[in-house]
Amino acid sequence: MTDNTFFPVKPEIAQAAHVDEAAYARMYEQSIADPEGFWAEHGKRIDWIKPYSKVKDVSFEGDVHIRWFYDGTLNVAANCVDRHLATRGDQTAILFEGDDPSVSKAITYKELHEQVCRMANVLKKHGVKKGDRVTIYLPMIPEAAYSMLACARIGAIHSVVFGGFSPDSLKDRIVDCDSHFVITSDEGLRGGKKVPLKANADKAVAGAACVKHMLVVKHTGGTVAWTEGRDLWWHEEAASVSADCPPEEMSAEDPLFILYTSGSTGKPKGVLHTSGGYLVYASITHQLVFDYKDGEIYWCTADVGWVTGHSYILYGPLANGATTLMFEGVPTYPSVSRFWDVVDKHKVNIFYTAPTAIRSLMREGEGPVKKTSRASLRVLGSVGEPINPEAWLWYYNVVGDGRCPIVDTWWQTETGGILITPLVGAIGQKPGSATKPFFGVKPVVVDNDGKELEGETEGNLCIGDSWPGQMRTVFGDHERFVQTYFSTFAGKYFTGDGCRRDADGYYWITGRVDDVINVSGHRMGTAEVESALVAHPKVAEAAVVGYPHDLKGQGIYAYVTLNAGETPTEELRKELVNWVRKEIGPIASPDLIQWAPGLPKTRSGKIMRRILRKIAANEHDALGDTSTLADPTVVSELVDNRMNRA
Ligand code: PRX
Repeated sequence: MTDNTFFPVKPEIAQAAHVDEAAYARMYEQSIADPEGFWAEHGKRIDWIKPYSKVKDVSFEGDVHIRWFYDGTLNVAANCVDRHLATRGDQTAILFEGDDPSVSKAITYKELHEQVCRMANVLKKHGVKKGDRVTIYLPMIPEAAYSMLACARIGAIHSVVFGGFSPDSLKDRIVDCDSHFVITSDEGLRGGKKVPLKANADKAVAGAACVKHMLVVKHTGGTVAWTEGRDLWWHEEAASVSADCPPEEMSAEDPLFILYTSGSTGKPKGVLHTSGGYLVYASITHQLVFDYKDGEIYWCTADVGWVTGHSYILYGPLANGATTLMFEGVPTYPSVSRFWDVVDKHKVNIFYTAPTAIRSLMREGEGPVKKTSRASLRVLGSVGEPINPEAWLWYYNVVGDGRCPIVDTWWQTETGGILITPLVGAIGQKPGSATKPFFGVKPVVVDNDGKELEGETEGNLCIGDSWPGQMRTVFGDHERFVQTYFSTFAGKYFTGDGCRRDADGYYWITGRVDDVINVSGHRMGTAEVESALVAHPKVAEAAVVGYPHDLKGQGIYAYVTLNAGETPTEELRKELVNWVRKEIGPIASPDLIQWAPGLPKTRSGKIMRRILRKIAANEHDALGDTSTLADPTVVSELVDNRMNRA
C-alpha cells in the first residue's frame, strides 16, 4: 500500500466537527510553542476543588520527574459522576450489554453515583484508606466501573488485573503493590463459557499474605469456596452502608491507578498514573479524537483490564458526560454479527475496537455485517497494534459503508491517552498510518545512535516533551522508570516502537523494536514467556520471538531446548502450551514450539534473537551476518526444522 491512498476529510464532516484542519494547525502550533499556556487553558475542562496556578514541571534528564497542574486539587470520581448530576442525572452513564444478548442494563448517572458511593463506603468500612492499593479482578460488568470510581472517590489506588490472567500472574501483581483488598466476582462469562474468577483469586491470595479482604460480586450465581472473615459479598455489604460518600480532595499528582504492563525484561511493571493530568488528557482526547458530541452513544470494545478500558471506556467518556457502552462478551458469540447487532440495538454512534477483531470478522465475509443496519455509526476507531491496510479498507467500506472516518489511534499504557491519531474533522486518513500527533505531542524520530532524523525518514519513535497523561513512575521503582524510558535516548521518552514518517509528515508505526510482542493487541514480554517455559521441569532453555500471524498480528514462536535425556513428543508440546497458559494466562500460549537442540549464540553466550526472528518469520534466506556465532551449525538445524513455512 503506497502513501498515495488518501481519504480526505469530507467537507460536511469537517464543518460539524469540534476541530477542523485550520483549527488543528493553529492549536497544534500553540501547544508546541507554548505548552504551559495551552494546557493552562485546557486543564479547565475538568472541575478543580482548588484551581491550579502551576501547570508544568518536567525533566526528562537528570532527576527525571513529571508534574502537571501540581498545586491544584480535585477528585476524579466527582468529575466523572457528581458533576453531571445536576444536568444529566437521568441520562444513561453506562450501558451494559451482557455476554448473553438478552441481558442489558442502563445505569444512569444518578444510579452510578449511588453505586460508587456504596462501594466507596464498603472499602472504607473495611479499612481501605487514601493511598492504599486495591486489586480489581472482575469481568466486564458495571461493578468494575463502580470499583474503580470508588477507589478514585476515596483516594485509594486501583490496580485492575485482566480477568484472563492466571492465579500466579494475579498473585505477582497483588504482591508487587502490597494490596490488602481484592475485588472479584464468582465467575465471568465470555462467549457462553464460565471463567472461574473467584477460584483463581483464591489461589492467588493463598500466596499473597498481604490480602485482608476479598469482596465478591455475585454475577453468575455459580458455587464458590468461602473463607469466613476474609470474604465479603458485595450485595450484602452494599446494603449495610450509606448511599452517600463525600469525595476525597486529592492533589493533582496523587496516584489514581497502577496498571501492570510488559516490557523487554523482567516481570511486568506497575505503570503509575496520577489524577489531574491524566483526567484532563483522557477527557480532551476522548472528545476531540472521536469528535464526541453530547448525547452520543459511544462504545469501546476493550476490556477494563487494559489501559484502553481505563481511559476510553471509563475516565475519558464519563468525564465528558457520555453514555459509554460496556460489553461483557466476545465478537463471535452467539454469532459473528454480534458487534453489529449491538451497534443496532443501542444505536451506537462511535465504535472503537482492535485490528485483531476486525481481521477475525473480515474472514467471515461481508454477509454477517451487511445483514445489519449500522446506520447510527458515525466514527470508527482502531487501537492496539498496527492495522494492515486491507483490514482498514474492509473496516471503512464494509463496516462503515464508506461513510465513517477511521481514527487509527497510536498510544501505550505508559502514555495514558492517545498520542498519534487522526482527528475526525481535521486530518485525512491513509490506511495503515496513525497520521499526526495530538496537541502537545512532539514525536521525534531518532537513529540507533540517538541522532534526530528530519523529514521523510524511518527510525525509533521518541517523544520530545511531556503531555499531561504521561505515566509518572514505575510503582516502587523510579530507577526502573528512568532506565526503561529515558536512558536509551537521553532527554527523550523512548516508546519502544519503530516508525516511519512520510513526506506529508504522517507517522506509520512499524511495531516494537524491543523484545515486546503484540499478540492480538495484547502486549507481552518475550522474557515472561521464556521464564514460564524454563520453569517447566523438562525444559533447559527457551527463546521466544514474535512472528507474523494473519489474525493475531503477531504469534508466539518458542524455541525450546529440553534437558538431556528428555524426548521431544507431540504430547510434551501440548503440555508446554498448557503450562504457559497456567503460568501466565491463555493470551500467552505459544502458537508454535520448535525443539531446538541448540540456540544460536555469540561466543559470549548471548542468544542472537535477530536470527531466531528471521527463522520464525520463514525468512531464513535473509539471516544476515552469522559470523559471530559460536556454533553456526545450529542455525541450519533450526532452519531445516522450522515450524512456520507460510
Ligand atoms: O506497539 C504499539 C502498539 O501497542 C503498544 C502499546 O501496547 P499497550 O501498552 O498494551 O497499549 C495498547 C493500547 C493503547 C505500542 O507500543 N500499538 C498501540 N496502538 C497502535 C499500536 N501500533 C500501531 N498502531 C496503533 N494504533
